[in-house]
Amino acid sequence: MLQLVVTEITEASPQVRTLTLARPDRASLPSFTPGSHLVLECGPSVNAYSLLGDSRMPSAYTISVLKLGAGRGGSRWLHERSPGDMVTVRPPRSMFPPMQKARKHLLIAGGIGVTPILSHLRAAARWGHQTEVLYSHRPGHGTHLDELRQLAPESLRCFTRRSEFHAALQESLGRQPIGTHLYCCGPESFMDTVCRSAEEFGWPEGRIHTERFGADALDPGAPFEVVLRDSQRTVTVEPGRSLLEVLEETGISVPNLCRQGFCGECRIPVTAGTPLHRDHYLEDQEKAADDSLMCCVSRAQTDSLEVPL
Ligand code: FES
Repeated sequence: MLQLVVTEITEASPQVRTLTLARPDRASLPSFTPGSHLVLECGPSVNAYSLLGDSRMPSAYTISVLKLGAGRGGSRWLHERSPGDMVTVRPPRSMFPPMQKARKHLLIAGGIGVTPILSHLRAAARWGHQTEVLYSHRPGHGTHLDELRQLAPESLRCFTRRSEFHAALQESLGRQPIGTHLYCCGPESFMDTVCRSAEEFGWPEGRIHTERFGADALDPGAPFEVVLRDSQRTVTVEPGRSLLEVLEETGISVPNLCRQGFCGECRIPVTAGTPLHRDHYLEDQEKAADDSLMCCVSRAQTDSLEVPL
């Protein structure tokens, strides 16, 4: 855990604030892979935000936060912070890294999804990698436009009309050289459209990368059974419900914080069956071990799981 102080707040666009966070003594912070996110404890909830700034030996972390009317209040809490306030954060996590072997990076952003794309673009510009950027946003709500223009003066195209974005997307997907990797972040429906279009153009899955945040972004999934070994009961987790919710209904309390697969609080052991990991917390080798799961978001690959609860 890192205790960081808010050193600067700027308005990136209507409804979006950019917060700069640093150590109180201004010592450098852990570096991170471009496209990484930071998990913050935001009053009533725990939220993840993409890191925008320099990823090498950073002296501060920068995030942009869209104020959401709905939700559990995390973005509102961050919008109420002032310089000098302290925030608890977990070290950066990488779920959306650039592919070093890519011949070209096609970066596609929708709305606030521009934040990890900006991080990718910053790294690509430093390494001299070839990029192309498509950014779709509501009129007057473009975020970080000046930085995007500076980093990709030749290849950035911005769209405020859906039809124009779709036409540009089709044109761009159809003419990329072999070896181009596509990175997309934005609302779920936006990412689904981009991925579907890429697949229709024959892009292999391994060259399409997306950044999806939160439990709301997840598929409702298939039903599965969970044998509660110690309680000698079996429960069913229906599509759209989480194992955490079902356990709570059964009277079994599991520590939890974010309920979105970020914080690691709701980890429980698995003694039989194969989990379908959907969290942002476990490392790859921990997921491969299949002996624990984050019950707020993860499901089962097998018809049933057994847990020692
Ligand atoms: S409650 Fe945070 S990972 Fe499940």
